[in-house]
Amino acid sequence: MPEHLDRRDFLAAGAIAGASLAFPATVLGAPSVRRSCAARPVVIASANGNASRNADGKSCVQLAYERMVGGTDVLDALIAGVNIVELDPADSSVGYGGLPNADGVVQLDSCCMHGPRKRAGGVAALEGVRTPSLVARAVLENTDHHLLVGAGAQQFARQLGFTIEPDLNTAQSRALWLEWKRRLDPGHWLDPKQRTAEAQRVGLEMVRAGLIQRDHYYGTINCDGINAGGEICGVTTTSGLAWKIPGRVGDSPILGAGLYVDNDIGAAGSTGRGEANLYGLCSFLIVECLRQGMSPRDAALEACRRIRKATIEKRLLNARGLPNFGIHFYVLNARGEHAGVGMYPGASYAVCDERGPRLEPCTALLEGTPED
Ligand code: GLY
Repeated sequence: MPEHLDRRDFLAAGAIAGASLAFPATVLGAPSVRRSCAARPVVIASANGNASRNADGKSCVQLAYERMVGGTDVLDALIAGVNIVELDPADSSVGYGGLPNADGVVQLDSCCMHGPRKRAGGVAALEGVRTPSLVARAVLENTDHHLLVGAGAQQFARQLGFTIEPDLNTAQSRALWLEWKRRLDPGHWLDPKQRTAEAQRVGLEMVRAGLIQRDHYYGTINCDGINAGGEICGVTTTSGLAWKIPGRVGDSPILGAGLYVDNDIGAAGSTGRGEANLYGLCSFLIVECLRQGMSPRDAALEACRRIRKATIEKRLLNARGLPNFGIHFYVLNARGEHAGVGMYPGASYAVCDERGPRLEPCTALLEGTPED
């Protein structure tokens, strides 16, 4: 083992090399977007990154940008940003007050990646901690591992002094869960197969009725940043799919799916239907497309195309034969260029740079809506 690599760095390098071996030679060309020493600092996030506010009235992207350009470590700055959303009881897709699983229990997922240090950490199905991104960060800092789950993740958090709460529901998330149960009509329990389909139908019906924001059904915030020195980091955090089977983990805490960072190339992260993203490890795919010279927009459109192609089951298709779900990617490259891209039009993403915090429109692969 080279002397300058510790065991963790060595394993991480090996894992990345292993992944590279499985990739077609054409994708393995020399990186075409290299970190420059004078990058344009920017922080991007899903749209909720410019919605929730802290006590000073700052949004996630705004606080993260200010801290980052003030010299705070990029990942620390991004996590301080997403903590605002995790702690906001009104955001029912992330952290405290996230919509619970089928048993009414809030289970949270998160991961983070530090580009310059080539380290990563994640937690999945974590109960009782409002800010899973901080526990993911602790996994990155304190362990030789990339992902802790369930009771083990909670025990790890307890040992590190995180407050463990018995219940992360708010009055709103519990009321919505009770409404979901009521609509399922437990007095006429269906067989397990029908029940799964019925649960999804009822959940989406609540979205269409305006009880749950579409973005909050699958939830999530992804936030990525690059500082003037070209250091790139990212973090993704979520309460996951509303009413999920207990223990279900989506794309958010999985490196390469909910988030991927290569400090020489860029960062990509996602929100939306995690299962669709997990099948193609799209954040990794997007960063590899950036490596080939694609723009952030085109790289993310390629990921959406792959998802569309891989979606063949009837239950996942609308009347036009197109995916009946939403998914979005947030991408920035090593020059600080960025894009938000989704399957369908209408979404926006949060940006903060020298022009201040704002929403910009996402590009869409398809026309219409997931339903029609
Ligand atoms: N993208 C969030 C989830 O599927 O859990």
